[in-house]
Amino acid sequence: MNSKLCESLDIEFPLFAFSHCRDVIVEVSKAGGFGVLGAAGHTPESLEIEMNWIDEHIDGKSYGVDLIVPNSIDSKESSNLSPEDIEARIPPEHKAYVESILAQAGIDTRDLWQRPKAGYGDNMRETGANAILDVAFSHPIKMIVNALGVPPLFMMQRAKQAGVAVGALTGAKEHAIKHCESGVDVLIVSGTEAGGHCGEVSTLVLVPEVLDAIGDKFPDVAVLAAGGIVTGKQMAACMAMGAHGAWCGSVWLTTSEAETNPAVKEKMLSANSRQTVRSKSRTGKYTRQLRSQWTDAWQSEDAPPPLPMPLQSLVSEPALRKIDKLAESGDAGARNLATYWVGQGVGLMNTSVSARTVVYDFMEDYAAAVERLGNTGQDKPLLPWHGVPMVQRILTTVPAEMPKLISANRNLDTYRQWAPVVTDLPVTAEAEDYQGPLVGDTPALPMNWCDVLMQSVDGHVDGAVVHDGERQQHLHLLLKCDVEKDLERFLAAGGYQVYKWLQTMQLSTARFADRMAFRNMNSPTDLDYPAA
Ligand SMILES: Cc1cc2nc3c(=O)[nH]c(=O)nc-3n(C[C@H](O)[C@H](O)[C@H](O)COP(=O)(O)O)c2cc1C
Repeated sequence: MNSKLCESLDIEFPLFAFSHCRDVIVEVSKAGGFGVLGAAGHTPESLEIEMNWIDEHIDGKSYGVDLIVPNSIDSKESSNLSPEDIEARIPPEHKAYVESILAQAGIDTRDLWQRPKAGYGDNMRETGANAILDVAFSHPIKMIVNALGVPPLFMMQRAKQAGVAVGALTGAKEHAIKHCESGVDVLIVSGTEAGGHCGEVSTLVLVPEVLDAIGDKFPDVAVLAAGGIVTGKQMAACMAMGAHGAWCGSVWLTTSEAETNPAVKEKMLSANSRQTVRSKSRTGKYTRQLRSQWTDAWQSEDAPPPLPMPLQSLVSEPALRKIDKLAESGDAGARNLATYWVGQGVGLMNTSVSARTVVYDFMEDYAAAVERLGNTGQDKPLLPWHGVPMVQRILTTVPAEMPKLISANRNLDTYRQWAPVVTDLPVTAEAEDYQGPLVGDTPALPMNWCDVLMQSVDGHVDGAVVHDGERQQHLHLLLKCDVEKDLERFLAAGGYQVYKWLQTMQLSTARFADRMAFRNMNSPTDLDYPAA
């Protein structure tokens, strides 16, 4: 996609992935999005290991790092205190309540409590955060993000010095304005649907509210929509409202790479969108979590009021770690209690696929949504690219002797000047010689792409599909006619995504080394992309 944000971060598609899992970061960035590693739980040493691994595997693609340095943290209560002092701040009532929840599920609580380590919560304060930033800035990151509140001055100054963009999450219009005044480059506007820390206002309301509030005053700030976004059509909806991209956390939790506890992953895949709760019980600030017997217990009238951040985590995390371990080994009581942060989008997360596939699904779904929106206006393949309608330019890349067919649902007579047309109406005689689909918005195709495809097919495979040097272009392919029956079966079983159908086939790869040649023209500015 040709946008200022994509250009400045050197990415193809403005889909941002917050994750604690390094494999997700690498796969998302390699697929054209932007991975952001959550560093809040790391020591400088462990972060160094993760980032070295990312650098080795990410093929030079862009990525970022996220920290949690809140403006309001109970510093008086917890900074400069010895582990013994911190421990003493936790009322016995809270520990007893946790023990009672676990005991009711048949879990032994004798070894539950351990003294907090020296420096507990330091990553949330200047000294600890600076040590993390030392590591982050020694790697080629393109963005540093702060989760809770205005990024502190030391973070802003170091980022500016390093030429790294600064992002900040916001859940309220008033905070968004403060973030912009502090000089952030990227504002992540997160609605109440979001997994993890979240505000009260829905994404659909908050995004336009923030865009209106920052309006012309901060034209250089890029706005990413977050909260509940797990599909490309939701991303397109947010971008139709004026956002420059989407930032997602939950959708990666059920990917095959994610290190989510398998018992929790399973629960997420079967959960509906009402099975989350927004509660202070985990960190002391509101976070959205998967509903379980644990979260129910904290919603009950008997529950003590959550402690301020970071003390509440000292109450919740030891128990949740124990629950996780037992749930993974099949303990029924622990499985009922097991939970994790996740947003309301969990209701749409029903299958586990790779992070790369999630990005490709987003791209496909986004393009279809944009197409639907565009259907009230212009017909994209008819738009001129360097003076020639895109569809006409594409047809010139197909050898003259090859029969051609155009799939279109309007302007049929216009299309018929180039080739017979098939519509979503019942197939007509025009379609008899149909050989396969072409995409109507990729006019920069190389002239030899059909030849390369044909040379790639031998007797043993069902066809060949283009690889642009970075990823499979599954809408640019050549198939043998005898896959027709297979397609009928796939459609009858409810399948509809092309790449999923292709996964059931034996295909060879037609390799190219020019990803730009297969790019989709999704916006008027894309049409400025030079002709070869
Ligand atoms: C498991 C989990 C942990 C999170 N931890 C952080 C964090 O450490 N820092 C942060 O900026 N955001 C964190 N978030 C919030 C995400 O950055 C993102 O804003 C949110 O997930 C977007 O909404 P979604 O979950 O509906 O995609 C977390 C989200 C989840 C699901």
